Amino acid sequence: MSIDQKVFITKTNHSKLENTDLINPIFGKVYADHMLRCDFTKGAWQDMKIIPYNDISISPANTTLHYAQTIFEGLKAYRNIHEEIVVFRPQDNAKRMKLSASRMCMPGIPESIFMTGITELLKLDQEWITNHPGTSLYVRPFQIAMDPYVGIRPSDDYTFMIITGPVGAYYSKPLKVKIETNYTRAVVGGTGFAKTGGNYAAALKPAIEAQKEGYDQLIWTDGLSHKYIEESGTMNIMFIIDGTLITSPIGDTILSGITRDSIITIAKDQGMKVEERPISTFEIIQSIEQGNLQEVFGVGTAATVAHIKTIGYNGIDYELSDVKSRKYSLEFLNTLDKIKSGIVEDKFGWIHKIN
Ligand code: COI
Repeated sequence: MSIDQKVFITKTNHSKLENTDLINPIFGKVYADHMLRCDFTKGAWQDMKIIPYNDISISPANTTLHYAQTIFEGLKAYRNIHEEIVVFRPQDNAKRMKLSASRMCMPGIPESIFMTGITELLKLDQEWITNHPGTSLYVRPFQIAMDPYVGIRPSDDYTFMIITGPVGAYYSKPLKVKIETNYTRAVVGGTGFAKTGGNYAAALKPAIEAQKEGYDQLIWTDGLSHKYIEESGTMNIMFIIDGTLITSPIGDTILSGITRDSIITIAKDQGMKVEERPISTFEIIQSIEQGNLQEVFGVGTAATVAHIKTIGYNGIDYELSDVKSRKYSLEFLNTLDKIKSGIVEDKFGWIHKIN
């Protein structure tokens, strides 16, 4: 991995570390001492800068603010049992970010900058990472258009940044989810597979409406027939039916989740039958009624493996938790945790060591 860009580091004189609770961090509220910035100007990526975490200045005419030419990623860093700082599958995030960039007409961040940026930033802020169970340092790379131009065309200039923050569980309790059949998250030919802000903004209203009905999250269905399960928006969705792991295939409308891929890999490795295929709401409800649906869970970087205990569909709530155990999802979570913490061998080559 060769890299032409240099990294210039300015350290903070006012670390927030001492006043931060690293044992019970709240997701998305606290940020570590430094951030990385790399600008794309005059058609090229410039040198990287690591600077104290702070607000950034942008023009009120900034094109991202008006037309949402923006993408992001999410990954996690851990302190393993050998006191090493490790990151889970960062190269896969770098690849996915390039795909998102291409869809949003942005220059892709080279993997060398992505990886060097994460590595140098985490070296500097490694004291923010503890090995307390359930905690990690969430790493949020993002890229925004920077032209001060109120007109519709791709920006010329961009800024790539990485911020990090200590996090615990994204979902602190089992979830009650509603299968959404009115609103649409993504359509074939759209941006559903890209990690771009607009996908999340458009999902807010349906999610708030579901929350008013007592649900924590939505499960999206396809935009055409609303008959097939897609994803939840914060995570991919998996079902265990008669001992088979079933999940919707990735494509235009479903994010290619890295945790999703990891669990499929682990399940296959453990000899489990895995089906990536369209799964209908009819099949889900039928398998609940027939008692074949053993587990439903969400999988994502932030969510890790999230237990779903209730599914709402067409005004009926189907309770899953009291009849079914969490045998499979807890086993997957456990295996992932052991790989990340260095308890078992990283036989899939997922761990990137920082120091
Ligand atoms: C992640 O899982 O890292 C995400 O980006 C999802 C986000 C809604 C927190």
